[in-house]
Amino acid sequence: MIGSLVANKHPILKFTSRLQQEIKFCLKHHGKFQNADACYYQVLIKVHACGVNPVDTYIRAGVYARKPTLPYTPGSDVAGVIEATGKGVTKFKTGDRVFTCSTVTGGYAEYTIASSDDVFHLPEKISFKQGAAISVPYFTAYRALFYKAGARPGESVLVHGASGGVGIAACQIARAYGLKVLGTAGSQDGLNLVLENGAHEVFNHKEENYINKIKESTGEQGVNVIIEMLSNVNLSNDLKLLSSGGRVIVVGCRGSIEINPRDTMAKETSITGVSLFSQTKAERDGSAAALFAGMESGWLKPVTGPEYPLEKAYQAHEDIISSKGALGKMVLIM
Ligand SMILES: NC(=O)c1ccc[n+]([C@@H]2O[C@H](COP(=O)([O-])OP(=O)(O)OC[C@H]3O[C@@H](n4cnc5c(N)ncnc54)[C@H](OP(=O)(O)O)[C@@H]3O)[C@@H](O)[C@H]2O)c1
Repeated sequence: MIGSLVANKHPILKFTSRLQQEIKFCLKHHGKFQNADACYYQVLIKVHACGVNPVDTYIRAGVYARKPTLPYTPGSDVAGVIEATGKGVTKFKTGDRVFTCSTVTGGYAEYTIASSDDVFHLPEKISFKQGAAISVPYFTAYRALFYKAGARPGESVLVHGASGGVGIAACQIARAYGLKVLGTAGSQDGLNLVLENGAHEVFNHKEENYINKIKESTGEQGVNVIIEMLSNVNLSNDLKLLSSGGRVIVVGCRGSIEINPRDTMAKETSITGVSLFSQTKAERDGSAAALFAGMESGWLKPVTGPEYPLEKAYQAHEDIISSKGALGKMVLIM
């Protein structure tokens, strides 16, 4: 119904030109593709780039808590140009450069439909490729640091897994807000990238004794906040790295781990999960305001890593999970 299946290892829906016509028709006449009310506030975007997030692979594989309605096209983080607008849309016009934090029809496509509430203007100085690296990474990093950890200027933060999409974003944001930033990566190139993007100090999480090196750096006091990308590996060590009143924020988790709850007691530390999907509209608007300030003043500079054509989306999904060393955000280019 919505496009032809690309017969690759993983089914990715691709828009056909007939569908583009259908969507334009729908936006014009309200109601063919979505129901009339929804269509009224939607926009059609010509996609130039779309971010690949690990969560896309969990959803595709059916192991994520949220199961999509089928047929399903992945992709929430699109950057592109407005092609058409529903009649109720006042914020955008045809030709505007935009990025999205969610789409109705999926972003791994040449065209996508999004609710205008989920669309933001993309400043000229940010490329489409970079625009596809903003939404999930930066909104998650901001949420983890401020809404969940309550991070304050002058505190220290360990971004445990700093070389990927969320990690680079967390380093840039934390540095801009006056935190002392420690970051980890698993390759020399990754370590360099993390240093270039806000970290004061870096550590290699593939080195056997790197936890001791972090302890040496933070001393008796420990680290105030840990933004954790692989908690099923690191949570037990994280609890030992924290300061009094320290907070671990679980962003990434790919399995279970044994911890000793006693490790939280003497220093009254806490472990808090974060889910971007749980953010309220008010929280999202707050994050957006802070991130737009970062784009204006220049500290928010999305770093993109490997790029793939749309037909290689299946390869991107394999590579993001079995990465040998992240170097910023993975994107599909249309
Ligand atoms: N909770 C939420 O709402 C939310 C939102 C977004 C993302 N996430 C999750 O957060 C995680 C990171 O997302 P992402 O987009 O940044 O992924 P990504 O771009 O693939 O980056 C993965 C990061 O994990 C690092 N890593 C690998 N081994 C590690 C280890 N032993 N200890 C610490 N870090 C390690 C990688 O470092 P090297 O490659 O340099 O080794 C890289 O920095 C994923 O699991 C994702 O599903 C959750």
